[in-house]
Amino acid sequence: MRFLQFLRSWKRKVSKTSDTFLEIRIKKERLVENLNFFKSLFPYCQIAVVLKSNAYGHGLKEIGTFLDKREEVSYLVVDSLLEALILRDTGVKKRLLILGNVLENNLFLLKKIKKATLLINSLINAKLFSSKINFPLSIHLKVDTGMRRQGVKLEELEEAIRILSLNKNLKIEGLATHLADADNVDEKETLKQIQLWKEALKIFKSLVREEGIFHFSATAGTKFLSPSLGNLIRLGIGFYGIDTTLDSRLKVKPALSFWARVINFKEIKRGEGIGYNFSWRADENGWIGILPCGYYEGLPWALSNKGVVYFENQPLKIRGRISMNMTAIEITPAINQIKENDWIEVYSDEVEKLNSVQKIAQACNTLPYEILVRLAPTIRRVLI
Ligand SMILES: Cc1ncc(COP(=O)(O)O)c(C=O)c1O
Repeated sequence: MRFLQFLRSWKRKVSKTSDTFLEIRIKKERLVENLNFFKSLFPYCQIAVVLKSNAYGHGLKEIGTFLDKREEVSYLVVDSLLEALILRDTGVKKRLLILGNVLENNLFLLKKIKKATLLINSLINAKLFSSKINFPLSIHLKVDTGMRRQGVKLEELEEAIRILSLNKNLKIEGLATHLADADNVDEKETLKQIQLWKEALKIFKSLVREEGIFHFSATAGTKFLSPSLGNLIRLGIGFYGIDTTLDSRLKVKPALSFWARVINFKEIKRGEGIGYNFSWRADENGWIGILPCGYYEGLPWALSNKGVVYFENQPLKIRGRISMNMTAIEITPAINQIKENDWIEVYSDEVEKLNSVQKIAQACNTLPYEILVRLAPTIRRVLI
């Protein structure tokens, strides 16, 4: 126990006082502007910011602490009980919405967490909560309108409500669903889901309560919001400033940039190779810089010989294969300006730059979500 305390305080000291080779910088102002954008479009909605997956790579504790003080945010959304416990351990007091399942053996922990709302995801889940919860607990019921991942079927909704109502400790405060195809220009599938959602709302309002918390929309789904359909948004990627809509309709800006210091310089002669398998050879004599981050830290291996980083707005190419914890960049064009330990911008928070999260995701044939959540939790996050 004592040893654990020592380890914790030591970790705190190290992370507060020591300098680092890697840094994720998050612009608070941008996060606030992004929140304001959604708040101004949907003044009738409460905002629940999604903090799962280490707050989309931005840092669960850091973003949780920041949002705890923001009145415009009503809930912090996490996937797991573990994430909820980490937030409480960090001192975050805001109401939490837990999306994922909780094992029977862990249900008692919900009492400790306080101000937690659980999403009930299936009939099995409803039975478990109804039979086991012996303390007051707020719940929202999730209905599956087509995503086929979580939620009770529309035909099961009445039964789920009946089962949950048997336990007077359970306060059924809201109804939720999730859209599968909201970012598609073809709205057909989403409109089908919305139709089922309307039916689910009718059932819920007649059997549980007229006034409740109703949410179907994540970032892209806001296109379908209206006061009769929802009064809470579960805001993830849009809050972090990434517009994934095909018509670029969201006026948001990325908050995150990722920085690494140059830790080594290597002179390279024409014809010499770099890194594993010498997958790149120099055409001319020049200089290589080494960055202390690789695919463990989140830099996709697919950017080997493809990616670009920046030194003071000057693009520099990634050369050779990205290693687990190291990446080589060609610094010949900037050799007279870069010094050891200077900061290099690995991911930019400017959408147009070649190393923006969006552009990197495109180059790697993946989603901006994946690029963000793969940023290693060990990298220091600083809110600026
Ligand atoms: C149930 C649920 N709601 C909301 C979100 C947030 O989605 P987005 O990041 O697209 O806003 C997610 C993301 O995975 C989710 O699973």
